[in-house]
Amino acid sequence: MNAKPEAVANPKPHFAGSSDLGGGWSSLTGWLPVAGQGMLAVNAFLLRGREPVLIDTGLAALREPMLDLIDEAVGLAKLRWIWLSHADADHAGNLAAILERAPGATLVTNFLGAGKLDMAGIRPDRLRLVIPGESLRIGAMRLIALRPPYYDAPESMGFFDSNSRTLFAVDSFGALLPRVCARLAEVDPPALSDGLAAWSAIDAPWLADVEPCRLAEALARLRRLDATRLLSGHLPAATGEDEVLHLLDLARRALVPARDSFTARQGAAA
Ligand SMILES: [Fe+2]
Ligand SMILES: [Fe+2]
Repeated sequence: MNAKPEAVANPKPHFAGSSDLGGGWSSLTGWLPVAGQGMLAVNAFLLRGREPVLIDTGLAALREPMLDLIDEAVGLAKLRWIWLSHADADHAGNLAAILERAPGATLVTNFLGAGKLDMAGIRPDRLRLVIPGESLRIGAMRLIALRPPYYDAPESMGFFDSNSRTLFAVDSFGALLPRVCARLAEVDPPALSDGLAAWSAIDAPWLADVEPCRLAEALARLRRLDATRLLSGHLPAATGEDEVLHLLDLARRALVPARDSFTARQGAAA
C-alpha cells in the first residue's frame, strides 16, 4: 500500500455507527484491523420503508451496538427482510440473534445459501429463495439479484435496486485502507487503488486465473446500470453518479492487468 497502515493501538473490531446514504439507505459500519495490512470496513445496510430490509448482519463481536442501531432505526419487530449476501462470518455474524428478535423477517438467499444455512440450523420456513436475474419485490420496488464481479463464496448474491439505483456488490470493491474513514472521498486514489488490489488478491485469488477481458466486461456491465450508489461490504459507500463511476474506473485500472488492452487489441485485429 502507498500509505503506511496506521498503528493499531487496540487491534479489535469496533463499531463506527450509521451513515445516511440517501434514497432510504443507510450503512451500519464496523472496522476490522487486519494485522500488518490496515483496516477493513465491515458493512451492513438498512433500507427504510414500509417493509424494512437489512442487508447482511455484521460481525458477532459487534452484536450489541449493531442490534441496538437496527432497533432504533426501524424496530427489529418490524424488520421484514434480511438479504444475506453469503454465509461468511463477517456477513452472517448476527443472523441467528436477529432472526430471533425479528420474528416477522424473512431471509433472502439462493439455493447454495439455503443449504449452508440449513447446516447452520436456520429453519427453512424463514427463507425466500431468489436466483441471480430474479427480483425480490418490496411494494412497488424491486431488488434485482445479481452475481458480483468477484467473490469469495459461490452463493454470493448482490442486487440492483432499480428504484433508488443502488448497487450492492457484496465483497467486490472491498479495500484494505491505511486508516478508518467516514467517507470514500477521504481516501487518496493511490491508497484506494492499492487497497482494492490487496483485498481482491486476498479475497478472490482466483481472479489471477481469469482472462482479464472477462473482468473488464463484468465491470462494464455494472457501469451500464448507471447506479447512483455503490455499496460494498468492505468499503465506505460510493454515493452520486460521479463517485460511483470514479470507483468503477479505479477498480478497473487496479484489477484488470494492463495486458487486457493488448489482448483486446489482438482480438480486434483478428
Ligand atoms: Fe466473503
Ligand atoms: Fe466479506
